[in-house]
Amino acid sequence: MKAIVLHELGAAENLKLEEVPDPQPGAGEAIVRLKAAALNHRDVFIWQKLYPNIKLPAILGSDGAGVVASVGEGVDQSWVGREVVIEPGLEWGPSDEIQSKSYRILGMPEDGTYAEMIKIPAVNLHAKPAHLTFEEAAAAPLCGLTAYRSVVTRAQVKAGETVLVTGIGGGVATFAAQIANSLGARVFVTSGSDEKLERAKALGAEGGANYKNADWGKAITELTGGGPNVVIDSAGGDALETAVRIIKPAGRIVFYGATTGLAKIDLYRCFFKQLTLMGTTMGSPREFAAFLKLYGEAKLHPAIDQVFPLAEAAAAHRRMNEGGQFGKIVLKIE
Ligand SMILES: NC(=O)c1ccc[n+]([C@@H]2O[C@H](COP(=O)([O-])OP(=O)(O)OC[C@H]3O[C@@H](n4cnc5c(N)ncnc54)[C@H](OP(=O)(O)O)[C@@H]3O)[C@@H](O)[C@H]2O)c1
Repeated sequence: MKAIVLHELGAAENLKLEEVPDPQPGAGEAIVRLKAAALNHRDVFIWQKLYPNIKLPAILGSDGAGVVASVGEGVDQSWVGREVVIEPGLEWGPSDEIQSKSYRILGMPEDGTYAEMIKIPAVNLHAKPAHLTFEEAAAAPLCGLTAYRSVVTRAQVKAGETVLVTGIGGGVATFAAQIANSLGARVFVTSGSDEKLERAKALGAEGGANYKNADWGKAITELTGGGPNVVIDSAGGDALETAVRIIKPAGRIVFYGATTGLAKIDLYRCFFKQLTLMGTTMGSPREFAAFLKLYGEAKLHPAIDQVFPLAEAAAAHRRMNEGGQFGKIVLKIE
């Protein structure tokens, strides 16, 4: 089969299309013939040497959707021929609260989805939501799961609450805005681009502010009528510091990334305002199933930025690295 293989770190151009052996299913495993894969910032951090425990050569990619080609011993044969979306987490473990020590994400060290076929544990197979195309289904898993756990499990957003999602161009952020909106919350966003602030309205956002303006916190306070109840963030740095300043008393801040680095948080405000700060990462298999259910019932569609052919994975990575995207960057696999 053909796959995008990374042999060397340092540049997106090192992602090259190659012929590699077809995967074979072992006991409890399935082979999926992929129709589409999607990028995550993790994939870019890997060739940038900003990710721990890198092992090369690697086939990257945590997100994928396709058709089950074959299954190994002990797996229900009726999976063969079914359209599926792949859960990107391996060995989360029995507790919903915390992942096991052996938890890892598909796409390094295990071969990922930038390929014509992938071998995965059969427990990671889920029926593709019928209302989604393969490109849309491939866009959903990692970011959708992270957003679901952030908004539903951790923040426990309720109808009528005001939610601020920072950096709305980000993959996870687009899902977080959609999910919060579908729960009946009022959603506001930030972005470094006025055009993206406008596009966020299609995801249910009422309004937003450009974080490149120094007084974006004041603008959000005014728009939300005194500050949000919940902030969902992955930027860290100034975004998190400002969130602590503008959030309403008893507010909840959930963060799953630190794209711009560490934050210097005002601890006095945190305790005096009775704030709750919550870190979160990915989600359990139960949360993945719940995310797909919510997405299916609400008939939501992922925000797709651009679709590249698999062979142009390097160009897709350059786009993510430049930060021009709104939503998910997808690789189409013929
Ligand atoms: N822990 C987890 O499970 C998990 C899962 C997924 C992602 N992450 C992490 O979360 C982060 C985002 O991931 P992603 O895949 O959604 O990335 P992405 O699609 O590359 O998006 C990154 C976004 O960050 C926003 N941003 C940049 N500087 C900002 C600032 N100063 N203030 C506010 N927003 C800013 C930008 O929004 P605009 O374009 O609107 O300006 C950009 O689109 C990464 O650090 C990633 O590693 C963690």
